[in-house]
Amino acid sequence: MAKRRYLVTSGLPYSNGRLHVGHVAGAYLPADTFVRYLRARGDEALFVCGSDDNGVASLISARKEGIPVEELTAKYNARQAKDFEGLGIRFDIFGGTHQPGFTDLHNRLSQEMFKTIHDKGYFTKKTTKQLYDVEAGQFLPDRYVKGTCYHKLPDGSDCGYNEAYGDQCESCGHAIDPIGLIDPLSTITGTKPEPRETTHWYLRLEAFEKRLLPWLEGKRRPSDGDPAWRETVLNFTLGQIKQGLPERAMTRDLDWGVPVPLDDPDAAGKMLYVWFDAPIGYVSFTAAHCERTGSDWSEYRRWWKDPDCRLVHFIGEDNTVFHALIWPAMLMAEGTYQLPRTVVANSFLNIKLPGQEEQKISKSRGMAIWVEEYLKNLEPDPLRYYLTAISPETSRTAFDIDDFIARNNGELLNALGNFVNRTVTFTHKHFDGAVPDPGERGPADQEHLAFIAAQKEKITACLDACRFKAALSELMILARAGNVYLDLKKPWAQRKEDMAACGATMNIGVQTVRALAVLMAPFMPFSAAKIAGMLNIPTDGEILPWDSSTSELVAGHPLAEPEILFRYRSI
Ligand code: MF3
Ligand code: ZN
Repeated sequence: MAKRRYLVTSGLPYSNGRLHVGHVAGAYLPADTFVRYLRARGDEALFVCGSDDNGVASLISARKEGIPVEELTAKYNARQAKDFEGLGIRFDIFGGTHQPGFTDLHNRLSQEMFKTIHDKGYFTKKTTKQLYDVEAGQFLPDRYVKGTCYHKLPDGSDCGYNEAYGDQCESCGHAIDPIGLIDPLSTITGTKPEPRETTHWYLRLEAFEKRLLPWLEGKRRPSDGDPAWRETVLNFTLGQIKQGLPERAMTRDLDWGVPVPLDDPDAAGKMLYVWFDAPIGYVSFTAAHCERTGSDWSEYRRWWKDPDCRLVHFIGEDNTVFHALIWPAMLMAEGTYQLPRTVVANSFLNIKLPGQEEQKISKSRGMAIWVEEYLKNLEPDPLRYYLTAISPETSRTAFDIDDFIARNNGELLNALGNFVNRTVTFTHKHFDGAVPDPGERGPADQEHLAFIAAQKEKITACLDACRFKAALSELMILARAGNVYLDLKKPWAQRKEDMAACGATMNIGVQTVRALAVLMAPFMPFSAAKIAGMLNIPTDGEILPWDSSTSELVAGHPLAEPEILFRYRSI
């Protein structure tokens, strides 16, 4: 197959907190798995991420921690980068929209895009009343206002829910315009905000409905080998278009962010909306990467504007509207970029602690499994394995501590690890640590080899479709089949009667281990590298070429010493 070229991104994490397992399962691990797979197949891929530093969330956290916002975002940017490194989530570049060394390019590209869209006439300039917190000295973002819902219920009575947020009422589900909230309160200072006039630029999304609709419809069955988009994403976005896309303000009253690049007194002191500049981070980090790797920053065009390059975004489900509607509309408006080929969205993860009910991850209630904490005690691969095995691809799933341990012991240790270990150890003991002669292969042997090839095809098809959970389960079927094969052939008994037959069995055992190493590498790169080491097979950098999974190690090939792959865990 011809070599393909991909630009893969993971949703930019806000740099106002640490990463937990929900983040990892949502936007980062599947993307890393996908990129590793692409590279194993010989495709070219650039993997881009960085922190989302601008916006009001960072400001509020900085205020809470009592440090300057630059310091806060730098601190969490560094901690997140370390978490990713520890998990083997290897971006080619991890930037930040307001990190030293990135801000200049980021502001420039963001402002250029805003100007272009402005000059093409896709913004409406409007003055409206918004809630202003006098004590905090700022306009309040929707999420930072609380009050009583003003909606009517279907039976004509008032909703009256008094904990409604300025963006949505959690009781009746309606969208809220914060200015209409009854008895509004600022959640920043607890004071009553007052309405004040302010001017902003609104992107007329409605102008793109006619293009977005067929574009999204086409993602049910894309051509060119791209995967079909998930139903959840298509249903949501198509539903939104059918309801009509409202215009959205793309500027904010803030003093932290990318300044609005307009020669207009009304723009003074205003910033771009964080959701306007954040996805441009994907572009500006690509540009920074080009600059750092020796070409000019403007080479980002090769990744963003060349129709040969496939843009794939991995995100958490709450980012869907921004990546599958607003961002494509921005790109359409700008006019010189390629649109995303694929947007892969995952649901949230819940947590289930032993003896407790399943619950939502919540920073404020301290209900989370932090990557930093995890990595202090445990290896990355069991977490990568588990998060893929329970991946919330179609709906919410739970990180269940008991299940995590059970799968570590039952699946990684007993099935996969044990198969690899018994094969390599036995070969060392009875065949001088070299791949035995295949001899005459019988039907069971041929069948097992055919099974390896069939599993490889299934795993490939699943990965092409971004169905990571299913791919992993096909991998484990192969691991279990390895054990079943050995149990059937009983090399420990064959050894006493017919050394050649025993060698034939172990030859196939070793080929299976090799296939497993290659096919598991995108999921569990650390363990795959260990197995590659035991098998003494060369890796091209970190890469185990995908098709080497079904090419056989020749008789006489020397193996290295076995190593422990997985460890037994208990609570
Ligand atoms: N920071 C956002 C979040 O964590 C994601 C931003 S993705 C980007 O939900 F595309 F806007 F960068
Ligand atoms: Zn309501």
